[in-house]
Amino acid sequence: MPCTVVVCGFFGDTGKGKIISYLALKDDVKVAVRAGVGPNAGHTVVHKGKSYKLRMLPSAFVNEKCRLLIGPGVLVNPDIFLDEVKSLDCADRVGLDPQCAVIEPHHIEADRRGVLAEKIKTTGSGTGPCNADRALRRARLARDVEELKEYLTDVPLEVNQAIDSGENVLIEGTQGTFLSLFHGTYPYCTSKDVTASAACSDVGVGPTKVDDVVVVFKAYVTRVGGGPLKNELSWEEAVKRGWGEIATVTGRKRRAAPFDFELARRAVMLNGGTQAAITKIDVLFPECKGVREYSKLSDRALEFVRKVESEIGIPVTLLGTGPEALDTVDLRDKK
Ligand code: IMP
Ligand code: MG
Repeated sequence: MPCTVVVCGFFGDTGKGKIISYLALKDDVKVAVRAGVGPNAGHTVVHKGKSYKLRMLPSAFVNEKCRLLIGPGVLVNPDIFLDEVKSLDCADRVGLDPQCAVIEPHHIEADRRGVLAEKIKTTGSGTGPCNADRALRRARLARDVEELKEYLTDVPLEVNQAIDSGENVLIEGTQGTFLSLFHGTYPYCTSKDVTASAACSDVGVGPTKVDDVVVVFKAYVTRVGGGPLKNELSWEEAVKRGWGEIATVTGRKRRAAPFDFELARRAVMLNGGTQAAITKIDVLFPECKGVREYSKLSDRALEFVRKVESEIGIPVTLLGTGPEALDTVDLRDKK
C-alpha cells in the first residue's frame, strides 16, 4: 500500500479475487478500482462462509467501507453490472467511468461463433468484438446508457485524489499475463494487454503513482480455452492431483500443469512485480489447509515457497491456504 496493483502471473484463475479480498479486509483499503478487459473475468470471493462470483465489480467489496470503481478502460455489460450491484447491495458505493465502452448483444453473438468460438475458445462474453468496435471508434460508451447514469463518476480523478491524499488504493487486474494481447500466447489470448501497466492505464493512474505490484500465482498452472500449456496433464491426472477445476464464467474444464518457474519469472519481469502471492498452497500441501500463521506451515510448503522466491527473484508475501478470504498466511512483516 498505498497504491497497489494486483495482477495474475499465469493464464488467469490464479485467485486474484481471493487475494484482493484479503488485502481489502486487512489493509483498510479506501478505494478499489477494477481494471482489465470486462465481464470475461470470473473472480471468486468467499467471505464469512458465502461464495460470490464477480464479473464486473471489484473483489474488494467485502470491505464495506471501500469505494468500488470501474475504470474507463474496462468494458461494461450493463445487465451484469446492474445485477451485481443489486445482489451485493452496494449501489451507494459503486462508480463507473462514463468512458467505459458498452457490450451489446451483437458483440456477444459475434464472440460465440467462427474463429473466436472455435479456435480461440473465448469466454463468449462479447469483450473481443466490443474492443474491436472501440478501436473502430463506433462502440457506445457508458455515458450513452440511461440505466447507468446514476453510477457515472470521473474514476481517474477519484482514484488519483485518493492516492494523493495517502489513502490505500487497490487496482484490480483481470485475466493473466500470458493471456495479454501483447505479451501472451497470440492468437490464443484476450483482446487487450492485461499486464500491470495496462491495468494502470485502464484506470487512469500513471506509472509514478504505483507503490507495489502483487503478481498472483497458483501452486499449479491452469488455462481454459485454446493455446499452448507446457507439461499439460490429462484431465484424469489433474483430477487425481486435486487440480481438476471448472471455469467460473463458462463452466469448461480447466487444463492443468505443474507450476512453471520460467513463466513465473517472465511474469514478474513483464509486470514489474514487487511481491508475489501463491494461492492453493493447501492443494499441494494438504496439511496447510486453513493455516493462517507462518509458524504452522509445513517444512515442505516453506521449501516450495523458498524455491519459488529464488527462481522469480521477489519475495512471496501472501499464501492462500483455503477459499475463505482470511485463509491466508501474510508474510509481509517477515520480508
Ligand atoms: P476472451 O477474453 O473471452 O476473448 O477469451 C480469450 C482467451 O482468454 C480464451 O482462451 C479464454 O478462455 C481466456 N480468458 C479470458 N478471460 C479469462 C479469465 O478470466 N480467466 C481465464 N481465462 C480467461
Ligand atoms: Mg477466473
